[in-house]
Amino acid sequence: MASFSVTSSLSTELKAPSVGAFQPSDRPFQNLTAAINFSTRRAGSAVKPLRAAAESRRGDSVGPLSATTLAAPKTEEGVKEEVTIVEEEENFEQLAKQLENASPLEIMDKALAKFGNDIAIAFSGAEDVALIEYAKLTGRPFRVFSLDTGRLNPETYRFFDEIEKHYGIHIEYMFPDAVEVQALVRTKGLFSFYEDGHQECCRVRKVRPLRRALKGLRAWITGQRKDQSPGTRSEVPIVQVDPVFEGLDGGIGSLVKWNPVANVAGNDVWTFLRTMSVPVNSLHAQGYVSIGCEPCTRPVLPGQHEREGRWWWEDAKAKECGLHKGNIKQDSESNVSAQANGEVSDIFESESMLTLNRVGIENLLKLEDRRDPWVVVLYAPWCQFCQGMESSYLELADKLAGTGVKVGKFRADGEQKAFAKSELQLGSFPTILLFPKHSSQPIKYPSEHRDVDSLLAFVNALR
Ligand code: ADX
Ligand code: SF4
Repeated sequence: MASFSVTSSLSTELKAPSVGAFQPSDRPFQNLTAAINFSTRRAGSAVKPLRAAAESRRGDSVGPLSATTLAAPKTEEGVKEEVTIVEEEENFEQLAKQLENASPLEIMDKALAKFGNDIAIAFSGAEDVALIEYAKLTGRPFRVFSLDTGRLNPETYRFFDEIEKHYGIHIEYMFPDAVEVQALVRTKGLFSFYEDGHQECCRVRKVRPLRRALKGLRAWITGQRKDQSPGTRSEVPIVQVDPVFEGLDGGIGSLVKWNPVANVAGNDVWTFLRTMSVPVNSLHAQGYVSIGCEPCTRPVLPGQHEREGRWWWEDAKAKECGLHKGNIKQDSESNVSAQANGEVSDIFESESMLTLNRVGIENLLKLEDRRDPWVVVLYAPWCQFCQGMESSYLELADKLAGTGVKVGKFRADGEQKAFAKSELQLGSFPTILLFPKHSSQPIKYPSEHRDVDSLLAFVNALR
């Protein structure tokens, strides 16, 4: 019985109408969950009392998130003292598997029920407005925060305002530290990211404000989807212990990250938004798909992947600004040593594949007039993105067998890495190069689309 106490007592107390909270009669999904006996899953969970200090520490939090409670009623503070808050000792990996086929609404309901006022939706001002719609449909109170980097499009600011009015909520805006922005802009100018990469500016304008926001929470909800980036998001789970950021209780492991639309395709999100007549950012009508800051986002062409409109001047792997950097598996020491110990077996093994050594690829580089075009992947066998494209690259090799195009691989980690970076345009693994027949310069495959059709289109157009 104890395992019910947080969720049931919280949901009871938060039924009180207030800004952003919905009346019980507005809670269609809650009725639905009751009907499908949602609680059976909770019943088995072990529970333990939250550390007593946690609530008082919440008051000390500097994050504006603790000051502007959206959906939690003001009266809640008073009621809360009588509530014994318990937290389930949960195996979130297991929970993610259980929720693999759940609807976003069910996941959202579960997240809000579990974390009450200590969870908030991270809203970017793009199609992740779907999260707000789901939250509304659960009938539970919910909080929303946005990182205002100071560099968003005017349309996005208008959209935030529209959303606040449409849902009757106050978005909890997080701003960058003025002194840090000042130092960056005064020393490097307003557009330093075009010169030396977006990481520094994103760190100041997005990541640090996010870190502050999350320090006032126990869980957050994002609109990440697997299909947003084949390179970095293909493994986004429904729910996970945040691998990077800390929550209210401090320490890695103190924050839970929910991704209710991880398994939903972008098209389906859009169908949902249209069906529910949800307001959308007017930039979408101008060809924008993924939307971030104004100088770092541009519309995409028909058929282009949405991620290609973000930080387009940079290598695909770097296209995580730090908000979700846990998605990027680093070329870490442990990977390299695991590989040195022979713990990782080689990949791209096929009769149709030619293995190039250093001399081989150097020769290929030198040839002014090749007899045959070559396509070569620069890879590291431990790299998950290389592993992720293995089947399509093998299929490419099979399809090109006998056509005159040679398909090869060059292992470019370890001691070959510096050479590959300076001579072969290696930015991150995998890098795919086409050595055309009548040109000395290899052409780097510019896309994150690593399916066989995209690869074939590239090779056939340029060989
Ligand atoms: S980003 O890391 O490349 O900028 P993306 O735009 O794909 O992220 O958005 C993925 C999710 O990150 C969004 O659905 C949202 O949950 C969160 N997010 C991104 N930008 C912001 C922002 N400015 N404010 C709050 N959350 C954001
Ligand atoms: Fe700066 Fe561009 Fe990052 Fe925005 S997306 S914080 S403008 S680098």
